[in-house]
Amino acid sequence: MSKQRNILLLGGSGFIGKQLAFALANRGWQVTVPSRRPHRHRSLLVHPGIRLLEANIIDSASLKALCADHQAMINLVGILHEKRKGDFRRFHVEFIKTVVDACSETGIKRLLHVSALGANEATGSSLYLRSKGEGENLLHTFGQRGLQVTSFQPSVVFGKGDAFINRFAGVLKLCVGYFPLACADSKLQPVYVGDLVAKIVASVDNRATYSKRYPVCGPEIFTLQQILELIIDTLKLPVRVLPLGKGLSRLQALILQNLPGKLFTMDNYRSLQTDNVCQDCELCQTSLRQYIHGLADMFGNKRTYDAFRRNYPSAERPGDDLR
Ligand SMILES: NC(=O)c1ccc[n+]([C@@H]2O[C@H](COP(=O)([O-])OP(=O)(O)OC[C@H]3O[C@@H](n4cnc5c(N)ncnc54)[C@H](OP(=O)(O)O)[C@@H]3O)[C@@H](O)[C@H]2O)c1
Repeated sequence: MSKQRNILLLGGSGFIGKQLAFALANRGWQVTVPSRRPHRHRSLLVHPGIRLLEANIIDSASLKALCADHQAMINLVGILHEKRKGDFRRFHVEFIKTVVDACSETGIKRLLHVSALGANEATGSSLYLRSKGEGENLLHTFGQRGLQVTSFQPSVVFGKGDAFINRFAGVLKLCVGYFPLACADSKLQPVYVGDLVAKIVASVDNRATYSKRYPVCGPEIFTLQQILELIIDTLKLPVRVLPLGKGLSRLQALILQNLPGKLFTMDNYRSLQTDNVCQDCELCQTSLRQYIHGLADMFGNKRTYDAFRRNYPSAERPGDDLR
């Protein structure tokens, strides 16, 4: 009988993490998913290969305790905006040191990490991108000392439960007339969550990926305005996009970052000053255009949509796409 292999998935309760947990478990890994609020993520427990538990992974001792008997780790912990000043450094840089320490002290030799497209310690246009870049550099430096590291730099990721298409669709549905859009010309190359997950899973045991950093993009380049227009056209919403110039875009960010939910911040504005595009990856060919059209076909009939939603537990409904 082959020996059970355990993998620790940090951030496994998030949007990308959940899909990755199921994909790894289907490949025979026993997956441990720590979460601050495991009761919200009970749907993970339908797979016998996934163990969900409550833990504060930011605490070094708790993380080390979790690492025992695990052969590999994947880190997905990340934030898009700071709740407290210094959070980007705390989660994207300091936490990386905690992760690397935990691996070296507990004998984990394989570490995969999800960063972000455009992450660069020196030239990133925002604090988010610079902190992601610094964390990635730290990992790869330690990777030369016996820890085999691979990192992935995705463009914006779409799929069930994403905070991108879903969020815009939710806001656009509330609008009539014009929707003022900051950074309308920014270019993005969205990648489907299933494609990204497949690429990560295929890398875990693949020595050729050791020490590598992979930009991960889908097959189509859109401006932000084109993506919103795609949602509007597909859902036949009575609203048009009103692109804002630089000054008004900054003003919108300044206002929204002080409102609850932080829909858009100055740091997000700065991230969008760099085009988020790369060479599309061979395995990542799912089209955002077809995905959005497909969802609209599937849920065009409200009763079908409601029935679909009722089949999922209320805390997380995969059918929340285009809510
Ligand atoms: N989604 C995208 O479009 C996209 C694009 C490029 C890069 N990325 C990167 O991919 C990674 C995963 O993204 P995602 O969209 O799946 O994120 P997500 O849905 O926001 O999930 C974040 C995960 O991190 C954990 N986490 C967050 N803050 C934490 C804290 N203070 N202490 C402990 N755990 C914390 C959460 O666990 P609990 O709340 O359960 O404890 C959750 O599992 C991130 O690093 C992100 O920067 C995402």
